Amino acid sequence: MSNIERIGVFFGSSTGNTKDAARRIAARLRARTTAQVDVFNVGDIKTQALLCYDKLILGISTWNIGELQSDWYDRERELRVLDFTGKTIALFGLGDQQGYPDTFQDAMGILAWTLRDRGATLIGAWPTKGYDFTGSLAVEDGQFVGLALDYDCQWTQTNDRISAWVTQLIASFGLQQHMVQECS
Ligand SMILES: Cc1cc2nc3c(=O)[nH]c(=O)nc-3n(C[C@H](O)[C@H](O)[C@H](O)COP(=O)(O)O)c2cc1C
Repeated sequence: MSNIERIGVFFGSSTGNTKDAARRIAARLRARTTAQVDVFNVGDIKTQALLCYDKLILGISTWNIGELQSDWYDRERELRVLDFTGKTIALFGLGDQQGYPDTFQDAMGILAWTLRDRGATLIGAWPTKGYDFTGSLAVEDGQFVGLALDYDCQWTQTNDRISAWVTQLIASFGLQQHMVQECS
């Protein structure tokens, strides 16, 4: 039996930012670990496909003042009846802290509630330090429930944030890292 870890990355994206972030996260995981990382647009799959993975990374942007990105919005009702018991899930969100400071990353928070309610274990909480906003449903106990990315206002921090978050996920998911080969 193969003991290769499988990770499902599922994203919903209206203008391509969350899609881009999903690809960067997957590329970083593939470069650093032996895990098989599969990437899907939630708009292209049946919602039940999420259950094919025990380790998941879900990406969502916030739209229309605090609402789920449209592909996730269409699936939220289905998510509410799926059983995520035994699933470990890391979330990342895309938002705009200057344009929408009162609802920054709300969709990531809404998705977190739904998944926890359905039995999922969430990992990958992220500090709020370095962001400037006034309200967010994605903040719990002073931290974001997942990685908060802001391509509109803090694009230049994206790669460093993803890199640090992936390091966190490798430990939390318990992934095996590639052997470092030293040449003399
Ligand atoms: C009409 C509109 C409404 C938005 N509402 C929010 C919001 O409430 N909160 C937030 O953090 N970002 C909001 N955003 C910003 C988007 O989430 C952000 O641009 C994101 O990067 C889009 O990612 P996507 O292309 O993957 O969908 C909004 C953007 C637009 C154009």
